[in-house]
Amino acid sequence: MKECILMIGANGQIGSELAAALRLKFGNENVITSDIREPQAIASGEIFETLNVLDKEAIKALIVKYKPTQIYLLAAMLSATGEKYPQKAWDLNMNGLLNVLDLAVEFGIKKIFWPSSIAVFGPHSPKVDTPQYCVMDPNSIYGISKLAGERLCEYYHEKFGLDIRSVRYPGIISWRTEPGGGTTDYAVHIFFEAIRQGKYTSFLSEGTELPMLYMDDAVRGTIELMDADPSKLSIRSSYNLAGISFTPREIAEEIKKILPNFEISYSDNDPRQSIADSWPKSINDEQARNDWGWKPTFDLTAMTKNMLDNLKIKLQ
Ligand SMILES: NC(=O)c1ccc[n+]([C@@H]2O[C@H](COP(=O)([O-])OP(=O)(O)OC[C@H]3O[C@@H](n4cnc5c(N)ncnc54)[C@H](O)[C@@H]3O)[C@@H](O)[C@H]2O)c1
Repeated sequence: MKECILMIGANGQIGSELAAALRLKFGNENVITSDIREPQAIASGEIFETLNVLDKEAIKALIVKYKPTQIYLLAAMLSATGEKYPQKAWDLNMNGLLNVLDLAVEFGIKKIFWPSSIAVFGPHSPKVDTPQYCVMDPNSIYGISKLAGERLCEYYHEKFGLDIRSVRYPGIISWRTEPGGGTTDYAVHIFFEAIRQGKYTSFLSEGTELPMLYMDDAVRGTIELMDADPSKLSIRSSYNLAGISFTPREIAEEIKKILPNFEISYSDNDPRQSIADSWPKSINDEQARNDWGWKPTFDLTAMTKNMLDNLKIKLQ
């Protein structure tokens, strides 16, 4: 059967790169991107529709028009922005998901992808090698909405047989598109500022270790999960997914190996620090490895080199 993909929230950090990979795999005509914002550019042959995920009738109209077999829902308000607008974050993150789940059941959409986050863990979750199943007491509105979203995904799978697939992304690091208001954004900004200014002030303290993943691995892993045999998937809430864990100090040291004059400093009292302090330092992703063969390929050294090589060209 020919696949047709509808991506919602496609202009952001992850959507823009995932859409490019899906277009290569399925062809431009079979990947419909949508977002509440217009994209900066639409290449010839690419299909884009303006869409607010909170407008259920508008999503329905796109489903009727394009008959997608898969929906990727990426529209969300991220952790740091969510703390500024908690009601809006809850509304977008929950009602956007519910709209898509309900329409997927109504129209028999074959597969759904919706990402969760390591923000589902909280201060009482184990911090090191955080397992798939453990105490989960998120204390950011973003984490609360993601945990509720995971429960909804599993519920719709059990109750309606919806083939929904999900991963708990760690902080995603990329050079093509800048991140959209998360707690791990420093790990992207640091590379941009290393090239632009030769220095960077991290909003997280030097020893704050967080789980991260390079975009190339995130995109490949997402597509591998969507391609996996459904009978192999034992988790329908959301899979733990890990790449590399590091602190601002460690990433700065790695950048200095390539840019020896790079300087890092640290700011105090940033509200994102308390979110970061409630999150895991490292994640156990055994189940994703066992069920669908997940394996990250970029370590800190390879990622740093790739980021700097690409940003030197992009920012020139
Ligand atoms: N980037 C990360 O590090 C990270 C980590 C964990 C989970 N995630 C999850 O991955 C998904 C994508 O994240 P991202 O980093 O690309 O986010 P982003 O903020 O960069 O992009 C989100 C996109 O959604 C769009 N959007 C906002 N409101 C909308 C609405 N009402 N209707 C339609 N579109 C709307 C925005 O315009 C934006 O283009 C989110 O669910 C996020 O929670 C991201």
